[in-house]
Amino acid sequence: MSQRETWTSRVGFILAAVGSAVGLGNIWRFPYMSAENGGAAFLVVYLIAVALIGLPAILAEFVIGRETKKNVVDAFRNLGGPVAALIGVLGLFTGFWMLSYYSVVGGWVIQYVIGSLSGAYFADPGMYFGQVSEGTGTILFHAIFMAITIGIVAAGVEKGIEVGTKIMVPSIAILMIGMAAWAFTLDGAGAGYDYFLTADFGVIAENYQSIIPDAVGQALFSLSLGMGAMITYASYLDGDDNLLGDGISITVLNTFVGVLAGFVVFPLLFAQSIDPGSAGAGAVFVSLAQAFAELPAGGIIGFVFFLVLLIAALSSAISLLEVVVSYFVDNFDVSRPILTTGIGVMIFLLGVPSALNINTFTMFDNIASNILLPLGVTLTVIFVGWIYGGGAVAELRRGLGKNSSFGPVWLWHIRIVVFAAVLGTLALSIMTFMSA
Ligand code: PHE
Repeated sequence: MSQRETWTSRVGFILAAVGSAVGLGNIWRFPYMSAENGGAAFLVVYLIAVALIGLPAILAEFVIGRETKKNVVDAFRNLGGPVAALIGVLGLFTGFWMLSYYSVVGGWVIQYVIGSLSGAYFADPGMYFGQVSEGTGTILFHAIFMAITIGIVAAGVEKGIEVGTKIMVPSIAILMIGMAAWAFTLDGAGAGYDYFLTADFGVIAENYQSIIPDAVGQALFSLSLGMGAMITYASYLDGDDNLLGDGISITVLNTFVGVLAGFVVFPLLFAQSIDPGSAGAGAVFVSLAQAFAELPAGGIIGFVFFLVLLIAALSSAISLLEVVVSYFVDNFDVSRPILTTGIGVMIFLLGVPSALNINTFTMFDNIASNILLPLGVTLTVIFVGWIYGGGAVAELRRGLGKNSSFGPVWLWHIRIVVFAAVLGTLALSIMTFMSA
């Protein structure tokens, strides 16, 4: 078996993790969740959730990965035996499942990049979404998106993922800042900012039972937690860096892109008096496309916007695929390109039903975001809190100093606060899912 790869630098690891975190979740999910949940008031709850739940949970995944230097299944097995390994198996399954439909959206986005240049959606954005989102064309672009993802992952951790995300993540940040600056000049910008940033704490007081789990769920989804992406990426770390510092950099950058997305999306919609009220994947594509169709030079702006969305989706997709590929590369003496292609083709096939029917797509997404990910986080938190425990503290302290008091505080915080928050989110998700 060949030597396991590692990142060539700390920045390489941070950018790869930010690439995984920044995705469709930041650019369409986050702005809409906040708009629906009381604007800036949601932003406040979300920021608290990121700091109190997301950051400690990402550290939990980091220590598991860095200590074991193994794929998600063997990482849990090494630290906790065969039963714990099942948490890793759940992670593999989740990665496989999520990428199957995430790639379908990736295919939609490619069609919107092309459509911005050709003007294909200008006449009837609603009809265009219908054509893009279901049918044989959808399968074709899903295949193209999967092929690009496979190409990057097949090239390896250093030459594929690290090199790729080093280009992709700065591009996302620069293009988003440019778009936000441009959106500032639009006529409706003020109304857009108001909608996004006016704190309506009354909404929170009335709906805290749904807003708190929404904010926690969004923090977890957006940080790619609950399926081993961060365990796998941290398993390629070498050395004793301060994981807390890395975790803070990653969560701050991820939040920054989400907030920037709000500064692009809302001015854009308000400039064209489009009601941002309706959420969901489809609604965002239709209403944004409508705004681009009506704005002067909208095609070019649309091209840049969908390009950013495409890059963000791609840098998340490679982390989903890497979780699965890493397991097979660690355990089978077959070359990475062959394994990656084989797994990628199977994921493509699982995605075909989602490419043919948007209801199937929505069901896949609901199961992943509302059940599989929160379940994965809950089990990981229990595992780190009560089984890995002191070992986790020791691993975290490697970069913080042997007697750092942050370690034990973090562990108790995981055992109580994080555990209660993720379990509550999971329970509510399951209840909502059952009643849907
Ligand atoms: N964080 C990604 C996003 O915001 C989604 C994701 C979840 C990616 C889990 C990988 C693992 O779109």
